[in-house]
Amino acid sequence: MPEAYAISAEAIQTERKRVNDDLDKFDAANVIKLDEVELRPMGPGDVHLKILAISVEHNIDHAVLADTVNIAALRGGKIYPGNSAVGEVIAVGDQVTRFAPGDVVITHCNGEPDIYGYPLRIWAYDQPESIGWYGREAVVADWQVIRAPLECGLNLWEIAALPLRAPTAYHMWRRAEAIFRLKVSREKLARLNVLAFGGGVSELFLMLARHEGHNAFFCSGSPERREHLAAMGIEPIDQKKFNRFKGPDDVKAFSKVVKDVSDSVGMHVVCDLLRGPIFPAGLTALARQGVNVSAGWQLGQKISYDSALLSVKQVTLDHTHYETIDGCSAATDLYGVVFKPTVHKEVYPFEELPRAVREMHQNTQTGIPIVRVAEKLPQSVSALV
Ligand SMILES: NC(=O)c1ccc[n+]([C@@H]2O[C@H](COP(=O)([O-])OP(=O)(O)OC[C@H]3O[C@@H](n4cnc5c(N)ncnc54)[C@H](OP(=O)(O)O)[C@@H]3O)[C@@H](O)[C@H]2O)c1
Repeated sequence: MPEAYAISAEAIQTERKRVNDDLDKFDAANVIKLDEVELRPMGPGDVHLKILAISVEHNIDHAVLADTVNIAALRGGKIYPGNSAVGEVIAVGDQVTRFAPGDVVITHCNGEPDIYGYPLRIWAYDQPESIGWYGREAVVADWQVIRAPLECGLNLWEIAALPLRAPTAYHMWRRAEAIFRLKVSREKLARLNVLAFGGGVSELFLMLARHEGHNAFFCSGSPERREHLAAMGIEPIDQKKFNRFKGPDDVKAFSKVVKDVSDSVGMHVVCDLLRGPIFPAGLTALARQGVNVSAGWQLGQKISYDSALLSVKQVTLDHTHYETIDGCSAATDLYGVVFKPTVHKEVYPFEELPRAVREMHQNTQTGIPIVRVAEKLPQSVSALV
């Protein structure tokens, strides 16, 4: 049976007990553990993948902490996580025509599309029976993979950084922009002010905005990420100068900077993703008719706001999840053209995946964390490392 990482409800309980539920002391590496997985028999519509590289996603942090729901317990005590990977097709079922052995593909994690194509559930998270890709091999249906754009100009690690984060950013951007345009036409205003707060999805969101000619601002605590985005014309704002918005004075000081950089107009679009103290800071930054869009709740699940104030400003709060499968394919076309992700300075070996999760939890990484799974890479990607 191939090696694969697993998160068990028992390991979560043991770690929570060890730290007395103090999540600041929680060590994610004590929870995500190397295991083995039995692959399902190949069906006629399946592809068998050898996993080459994966990116560590923030929902792993949510899964090991069990801070949103205890997904391992809900899924019967154990999950095999991982919903972002680059893999080589090593075999295909009888009815698969789109892929052949030797093809290199990326995964998407729309686990079960609703009637409009958006995910009801996420693969390797809440989709029942789904087995993730933090393992040596996987068997999935062919609709779960997209041909990897090996000619896009990105290296293999950069490609591996994008399968989950780029479609999320693409979905959020097209929605936020369309909602704003429902209210204010291009005729009235061509260039929007767009702000996003730290993180991989946010930086990709800003790359889309910048690529379309808008003014983009990245408010992050990471100097490496700010520098990377500044080189693309995205204006950096150091979030730590505002004490991560711990108190009202910090938000006030931030609001003044937003006014300064936007000729007192404010931000037409804000990408939050973190909630907690970020949410009020993002609201204060919004211009009239502004849109606040989010797909995450890393620092808090509940938000509160003054409905009267937001009505007067005609502000829209939008909640999104992940893309449709068509949207994932469309986002893949933008790899290298628009999406040029920051990648953490160390590419972790497979055995060190728990450390990568720990360091993500500790927020010490300089970009999106990548894990190399395959020691031997196929020739088609060997020039990309
Ligand atoms: N619904 C979906 O489909 C979907 C998809 C992707 C992500 N998400 C969610 O969106 C969120 C962000 O995901 P991501 O992939 O962009 O994460 P990421 O690349 O791991 O970035 C997380 C960022 O959080 C910021 N951060 C960490 N601790 C912080 C604190 N105490 N105060 C302020 N900022 C802090 C850091 O930014 P700085 O240090 O640079 O400020 C860090 O870069 C996660 O909750 C994730 O689960 C949802």
